[in-house]
Amino acid sequence: MRVLLTGYSGQLGHDAAAELTRRQIPFLGVTSREMDLTREAQVQAVLADYRPDAVLHCGAYTAVDRAEEEPERCMAVNGDGTRHLARGCAALGAKLLYVSTDYVFSGEGAAPYEVTDPTGPLNVYGRSKLAGEEWVRQLVARYFIVRTSWLMGHRGNNFVKTMLRLSESRRELRVVDDQIGSPTFTADLAPLLVELLQSDRYGVYHAANEGFCSWAELAEETFRLAGRDAAVRRVTTEEYGARALRPKNSRLSQASLARAGFGPLPPWQESLKVFLRDLGQGGGL
Ligand SMILES: NC(=O)c1ccc[n+]([C@@H]2O[C@H](COP(=O)([O-])OP(=O)(O)OC[C@H]3O[C@@H](n4cnc5c(N)ncnc54)[C@H](OP(=O)(O)O)[C@@H]3O)[C@@H](O)[C@H]2O)c1
Repeated sequence: MRVLLTGYSGQLGHDAAAELTRRQIPFLGVTSREMDLTREAQVQAVLADYRPDAVLHCGAYTAVDRAEEEPERCMAVNGDGTRHLARGCAALGAKLLYVSTDYVFSGEGAAPYEVTDPTGPLNVYGRSKLAGEEWVRQLVARYFIVRTSWLMGHRGNNFVKTMLRLSESRRELRVVDDQIGSPTFTADLAPLLVELLQSDRYGVYHAANEGFCSWAELAEETFRLAGRDAAVRRVTTEEYGARALRPKNSRLSQASLARAGFGPLPPWQESLKVFLRDLGQGGGL
C-alpha cells in the first residue's frame, strides 16, 4: 500500500507520518506548498504522479475563529479541496480517509453523538468540514470519515500548549466551562487511522480519547500535572465571547469503533500525562 498524506506539517499529520514510518508503509507527505488543496489541477497532478492506493487526508483550514471572517477561504480548502481529492481518489480507485470534527454537530443535549445523528454545524469551519464529508460520501466508493475532537499533539499549536504559555505571564486564566468534549492526543489517534486505512472496514467513525471534560477542567488538569499554580476562572461560552459559536455538547460516542472491532483510545487524563511528559512539563507528576 502507498499512501498520500495531506497535512504533513500539521499536528495530526506529523504523528500520522511517524506511524506510517513505524509500520514501514511507503508514503508521500504533502503540505500546501507541494499540493495546495484549493488548486484542483495541482491536486490531480500529484495524485496522477504518485498513484497512491490510499489517501490519509489530515490537511485542513483549522482556524475556527478566523474562518468567520474568511468563509470563502475556509470552504475552498475544506469543502472544495476535499472534493478535488475525492475526485482524484475515485479516478484512481484509491481509498480515502477524511478526518472530520465534532464541530459538524450543534451540541444540544448531553448525550454522546452517534455517527448516525443529524448534523447541524454552528460555525463556518463546521459547515466547511461537513461539506468535505458530503463530497467524500458522494464521490468515493471506499471511504472512511473519522470525526475527532480537541486535538493535542507535539507539532503546532493547541489548547494545552496555549494554557502552558499563558500561565507563564498570568496568575489567573478565564476558561470556558460549559463546552464538554474529549481531548484527543494525536499520538493515540494516528495509529488508529493507519489501522483503519489498512482495513476494509469502511464507514463513518467517531474517535477521541476516552472520557469527557470541559475546557476549564482540561486547563486545571494541565496545571496540576505540570505543577503550575495558575488559577482557572470558569466562565460560560457567552462570557468568554469567542468569535465563532461552538457546540456545548461535543461528546462523541465511540460505539461505531467498538462495533468494527477497534479498541478504545486511552482515557484523556492518561494521554495528557504522556503529552506533558513529552513536552518536559511533567513537573507535578
Ligand atoms: N485541531 C483540532 O482540535 C481538531 C479537532 C477536530 C478535528 N480536527 C481535524 O483534524 C485534522 C488535523 O488537524 P490539525 O490540528 O492537525 O491541523 P493543523 O495542525 O492546523 O495543520 C493543518 C494542515 O493542513 C495543511 N493545509 C492547510 N491549508 C492547506 C491547503 N490549502 N492545501 C494543502 N494543505 C493545507 C497545513 O499545511 P501548511 O503547513 O502548508 O499550511 C497543515 O499541514 C483536520 O482535518 C482538522 O479539521 C482538528
